[in-house]
Amino acid sequence: MNFRNTLKINEKGHLEIGGADCVELAKQFGTPLYVYDEAHIRNMMRVYRETIEEEYAGRGLVLYASKAFSCEAMYAIAKSEGIGADVVSGGELYTAMQAGFPARDIYMHGNNKLPQEISYALDCGVGTIVVDAYSEADLIEAEAQRRGVIQNVLLRINPGVEAHTHAYVQTATPDSKFGFSIQDGAAEQITRYVLARKHLRLMGYHCHIGSQIFEKQSFVLAVEKCLKFMAEMRQKLNFETEELNMGGGFGVWYTDADAKIPAEGYRDYLSALIAAVKKGCADYNLRLPRILIEPGRSIVAEAGVTLYTVGAIREIPGLRKYVAIDGGMFENPRFCLYRSKYTALLANRAAEPCTERVSLAGKCCESGDLIGDDFNLPAANTGDIVAVLTTGAYNYSMASNYNRNFIPPAVLVKDGKAEYIVKPQTYEDLVRNDVLPARLK
Ligand SMILES: Cc1ncc(COP(=O)(O)O)c(C=O)c1O
Repeated sequence: MNFRNTLKINEKGHLEIGGADCVELAKQFGTPLYVYDEAHIRNMMRVYRETIEEEYAGRGLVLYASKAFSCEAMYAIAKSEGIGADVVSGGELYTAMQAGFPARDIYMHGNNKLPQEISYALDCGVGTIVVDAYSEADLIEAEAQRRGVIQNVLLRINPGVEAHTHAYVQTATPDSKFGFSIQDGAAEQITRYVLARKHLRLMGYHCHIGSQIFEKQSFVLAVEKCLKFMAEMRQKLNFETEELNMGGGFGVWYTDADAKIPAEGYRDYLSALIAAVKKGCADYNLRLPRILIEPGRSIVAEAGVTLYTVGAIREIPGLRKYVAIDGGMFENPRFCLYRSKYTALLANRAAEPCTERVSLAGKCCESGDLIGDDFNLPAANTGDIVAVLTTGAYNYSMASNYNRNFIPPAVLVKDGKAEYIVKPQTYEDLVRNDVLPARLK
């Protein structure tokens, strides 16, 4: 369990994260609670940054894919680690700006950026916008022209690589709402189109082949396809790619069905990718582009644990046992969305052997509201503290106020001390935007 040194079981038999006792955290901050280990986040950011520095002479940039977990503290950490960020909405961009993140190091994504989001991005001076539609290219061109500036852009292309991952999060198969396909000529057409716009500076290409990928070969294959395409664009259009952004997608451990990759192990993915870029450039006699990558999950997922208190317990003889916790799909919808698997333990009895297989049920009025349906745990009692591991990515960021439950607060742990990075909501927060017309009073 402690292969990343994030988690351990202390002498009281309690789970510890980043040096903080989870039972104490639950007492101090209440549950449900998202807990993040700062050292782990920084370590992962450093591994990626140093790999580019050491193996590619620093000719690149790591972007934290902030959709994985977006709050001001995360942008502040990324900034202090000298990495950039990608954002996918005006809201993420606003959060980054509030945290004082340098706009030039922001890449803006989205398959349907709204006109007001594009305008806001230009107001902020966002470094690069990743174009994913003709209509977007036109909007950016018009906004840039209005301001008398030239906007750096990348084109999102689809290399048609099928990564080994869950089908629901695959984004680069030919049938995808993302990216211009290389195969059918769409990528070449948009390249021609953007090169002809006066206020767009085409820096190169972006692709993202999926998420939770463990196969290095998938990234290598994607690089090979991109480089072949880059060589074609130079030959046909005299366009030399300056930047190649290979997206994110590196896999993490959720259960023992997944590989346990120590932080340093992520170097291998980037090394393989860098080697493939160098080889392809040598083969096609291309200039080495700047390399960008956009890891999200692999930076924050394993840094996070969600703590809950056990409430009702329902045993259906011969069928199943439901252990209900004070969270649910409103703070972790990933089981409902993707049937995602997790590992859980009782934080207050972490050293005890597991004796039963249970479903962890949420508190929402939905029978499908589960965190998972096959957790091995010691026999849980009401009041026990459940810790679900690897919940740092796409949990808080996908949370909602469904059933008017509170989105839980998040704390950041450093050297055993925790402080809020997202504060608790209140009932007033829930009705803040409600309007009761006079005629209904
Ligand atoms: C364009 C893009 N970049 C980066 C990422 C981050 O992927 P991951 O969190 O799997 O590293 C995503 C995730 O969907 C994405 O769509």
